[in-house]
Amino acid sequence: MKALITAGGHGTRLRPITYTQNKHLIPIANKIMLQYAIDYVKEAGIREIGIIINANDNSIQNVFGNGENLGVEITYIHQDKPLGLAHVVKISQSFIGDENFIFYLGDNILVGGVKPFINDFNEMNSNCHLVLSQVLDPNRFGVAEVIKNSIISIEEKPISPKSDLAVTGIYIYDSNIFEAVNNIAPSKRGELEISDAHQYLIENDFDITYSEITGWWKDTGQPSDLLDANRLVLDNIQGDNNGSIRNSSVKGEVSIGTNCQIENSNINGPMIIGNNSIIKDSVIGPYSSIGEECKIISSNIEHSIIMDGCNISNISKNIKSSLLGKNVKISSSKDSNQGRYLLGDQSNIEL
Ligand code: TTP
Repeated sequence: MKALITAGGHGTRLRPITYTQNKHLIPIANKIMLQYAIDYVKEAGIREIGIIINANDNSIQNVFGNGENLGVEITYIHQDKPLGLAHVVKISQSFIGDENFIFYLGDNILVGGVKPFINDFNEMNSNCHLVLSQVLDPNRFGVAEVIKNSIISIEEKPISPKSDLAVTGIYIYDSNIFEAVNNIAPSKRGELEISDAHQYLIENDFDITYSEITGWWKDTGQPSDLLDANRLVLDNIQGDNNGSIRNSSVKGEVSIGTNCQIENSNINGPMIIGNNSIIKDSVIGPYSSIGEECKIISSNIEHSIIMDGCNISNISKNIKSSLLGKNVKISSSKDSNQGRYLLGDQSNIEL
């Protein structure tokens, strides 16, 4: 079996972060999002991985190379334009050949990886195996209508969903999926929709089976999803301390990187702090991921993702449910009556 993992797309909902970095490189609990996907398929025994990237984006390749260091073999497949998930499958046919494959959306994170679903697919021996999850907001997803344990229809982002079962970003196929992606037309928004390919398989009597996710699963399309995913991953983090702690309290599971200095601060787990970060006179956590080389002085942070190189000092208001890209600087103004802002396009601040 091979794996096809997406790392292209528009990333519009995560702007402005995605103006400067591919969303699949955003860290969740200080681990790159796409690394979770690679680890899951590797755990399932898959070595040959195709990663879809936008034309002219070398950032993923710069991080993962040919996969040798991770014990996998990565082939990069360029998509000229993000023309839809069925388009992704279509342009990957020569990489996949006749093999069965798992198609994994690189912005999905779940507990327990993908091995159980691959086992289900192998046992059920179907043409297409979907992974479903009960959600509160099905109209954001492709929705499966299930009767007597059979999927009888799939509709993309329906206005009136026929169930609360979202089709997650984990699909396992045999090579009949290529017949489907080659026989569907673009949707109103101009994309080849994967839900239409699944509907094609249903209407043409191919065998579609499914597993239901029982633990948590997150499609990290919007900032609040990233913070949720961060919280869910941190819930299982093991504390360890590789830094120096002075006059501070550290409660709960906290992972502290090498050369970190923590002074006169309260650190409340679960949380993670990357290497070479300095925290002084601050209260941090729970559910926060602080990247490497960050400096946080006299400030309070909770339930946030703070990426590498950020510098936060003397902020009197709590920083909560926030997402800061790399090297962001927030400091208090010298004049208590006025602030000064240097914000890129679509920055979003609430004071
Ligand atoms: P989406 O989250 O549906 O879309 P997006 O990443 O373009 O983001 P937004 O809606 O905020 O603009 O994409 C799901 C996954 O598929 C994600 O990993 C990006 C990837 N993708 C591609 O690689 N190629 C495509 O043509 C599309 C539509 C998505």
